[in-house]
Amino acid sequence: MPTFEKFLVNPSFEFSGTHRVPGDKSISHRAIMLGSIAEGTTHVSGFLEGEDTLATLAAFRAMGVTITGPQQGQVTLQGVGLHGLQPPAAPLDLGNSGTSMRLLAGLLAGQSFSVELQGDTSLSRRPMRRVTTPLALMGAEIRTSAEGTPPLQINGTGQLQGIDYLMPVASAQVKSCLLLAGLYAKGQTCITEPAPTRDHTERMLMGFGYPITRTGDKICLVGGGQLRATSIEVPADISSAAFLMVGAAIAAKSEVLLTHVGINPTRMGIINLLRQMGADICLHHERQIGGEPVADISVRSRALHGIVIPPHQVPLAIDEFPALFIAAACAEGETILTGAEELRVKESDRIQTMAEGLNILGIKAIPTADGIIIRGGTMGGGTINSYGDHRVAMAFAIAGLRAKKPIVIEDCANVATSFPHFVTLVQTAGLALQIISKEK
Ligand code: S3P
Repeated sequence: MPTFEKFLVNPSFEFSGTHRVPGDKSISHRAIMLGSIAEGTTHVSGFLEGEDTLATLAAFRAMGVTITGPQQGQVTLQGVGLHGLQPPAAPLDLGNSGTSMRLLAGLLAGQSFSVELQGDTSLSRRPMRRVTTPLALMGAEIRTSAEGTPPLQINGTGQLQGIDYLMPVASAQVKSCLLLAGLYAKGQTCITEPAPTRDHTERMLMGFGYPITRTGDKICLVGGGQLRATSIEVPADISSAAFLMVGAAIAAKSEVLLTHVGINPTRMGIINLLRQMGADICLHHERQIGGEPVADISVRSRALHGIVIPPHQVPLAIDEFPALFIAAACAEGETILTGAEELRVKESDRIQTMAEGLNILGIKAIPTADGIIIRGGTMGGGTINSYGDHRVAMAFAIAGLRAKKPIVIEDCANVATSFPHFVTLVQTAGLALQIISKEK
């Protein structure tokens, strides 16, 4: 049974305080995956206790890995080694989580057992051939639906071959899927990226002592090695911080400090683009924690102006566009995005769902095949369908810091996939947000 949850956000003017948003989703998924197949005990702190990462955790428990927690972000994994996973008794349900499904497809293609991967309605519509096609080149046996969507039937034969693959899309999920399959393959697996994408898998593999090389845009590893257990401290998720950054940038009066945020250069698009729009953002106390750069980020309100988004920034801000579109709606002039057709195959078609919602609020937003044109203006109120997309729901919630009238946002339960306690956190910061219905 679906959960229906609506947000009501009333016009709000001040946004402030020091906040730590939950742990990075991408890093939390990878910590569970690599900790599970390492030799020895891995300790994770700062783990994101969201539905997506809990789906990954449950999948590894179902494959025989002893995992303690999560408890206040602490997780301990008794790694079973590269070949110690057990066949699960039932299909693995990965809920809303594209990262779980695509990365697990690679990892499980290398096993010697069969498994089925399933997801919710949204995940069941998302394209999977981008991973099954290169995995088939490695010798994997995987079936999708006729449309190339989940469920995935993986018939693990334990006999993968390394490949040299040029990715047609700039996707960290595809890259990571193939690197995980490469751990199990004979010989070398190399992946060339058409543009830089998040590199958490590469960094974490090195943290687990697994040799990996990068030459320009080509990443290679040799299968059959060993991962050594380690400790992982997960920084706060810049993708969650993005909603507070935009909120602070657009509010009439604001001063927000976000602590311990991951500022990996492959995730910095939101900061680069907001700064290009004129936002007042400062990084403090920059440091390295467990192979990932981290900083505290302060943001204050300042007038924004529209920009032409440089295409190379798109993969670096791929999850932050719903929030950024709200900033564009509050900016003087036009913001133009191109080269972002990937947004059409996220948890919802984010070009369409955001354009529809912005239009309801009285903002001119014109969707294009691979992007959007947004003319900044005065936001009114209205009822918006988030189409069950967590980031669309949170983006329109933040719009309450500029909208002149109340906004109702429908179908918000999936906010829990990436940002548990979003509501209480933004309430504390000053947003007049409430949950107005919740039923099963
Ligand atoms: C992710 C990669 C991105 C991103 C997703 C998480 C990851 O997807 O949208 O939320 O953890 O690797 P793509 O790499 O397919 O763009």
